[in-house]
Amino acid sequence: MPQVIAVTSEKGGVGKSTLSVHLTGAFAERGLSAVLIDEDGRVGSAVRWAGRGPGLPFAVLEPENVKPKKLREADVIVIDTEGRPKRRELRALGERADLILVPSGVSMLELDATTELMNFFHEDPQTRRRTRVVVNRVPPIGRAGEGAREDLRESGVTVCNTLVRSYAAYVRAAELGVLCRDVLDHRAAQAWADIVTLSRELL
Ligand SMILES: Nc1ncnc2c1ncn2[C@@H]1O[C@H](COP(=O)(O)OP(=O)(O)OP(=O)(O)O)[C@@H](O)[C@H]1O
Ligand SMILES: [Mg+2]
Repeated sequence: MPQVIAVTSEKGGVGKSTLSVHLTGAFAERGLSAVLIDEDGRVGSAVRWAGRGPGLPFAVLEPENVKPKKLREADVIVIDTEGRPKRRELRALGERADLILVPSGVSMLELDATTELMNFFHEDPQTRRRTRVVVNRVPPIGRAGEGAREDLRESGVTVCNTLVRSYAAYVRAAELGVLCRDVLDHRAAQAWADIVTLSRELL
């Protein structure tokens, strides 16, 4: 059975789609059969991302186009979820996913929102074990990322070791409909390296 990784958050704009697209790309580059399901039809969504460029090196499916047989053959399924989900939807995610990945920025407000969501996920011990935060948009200079990771861990949250740094290459990748490794930018390789490291930590 494929591993199902759902990327979610209660706060919008934390990097769900950016991480979903790139993580799926990293799994595919590693030779895994990886599929991205886009459960968010809006502007920033993964389907539209794929449509802007020459095509991504993996399938991006809308829920209505998912063929169960095809999915069963995949090694990993990444689900990009909609912004501002209802608690009921979040609860359901806990049953559908092997891993729930919650991106968080480093600011105090973002960390508060993330901790609150994690407290909700922790109410169910089964879901608790499956939920992990990834600190995203970390300023490449300074120690804000390490600080955020430490603060979250102190409040009992499981946090990925990998810090995904803030790079313009991710923004450009979304604009061009490609992965950041294919963007002409002097930090593109660093951006891609963060994603590959994160993918290895997850699977
Ligand atoms: N690591 C990063 N470095 C720089 N910019 C980033 C990074 N991650 C995300 N972004 C940018 O932040 C913005 C929001 O990212 P994204 O659309 O992935 O968030 P989202 O959580 O999917 O948003 P929504 O809740 O609207 O679905 C985008 O402009 C994206 O390019
Ligand atoms: Mg999104």
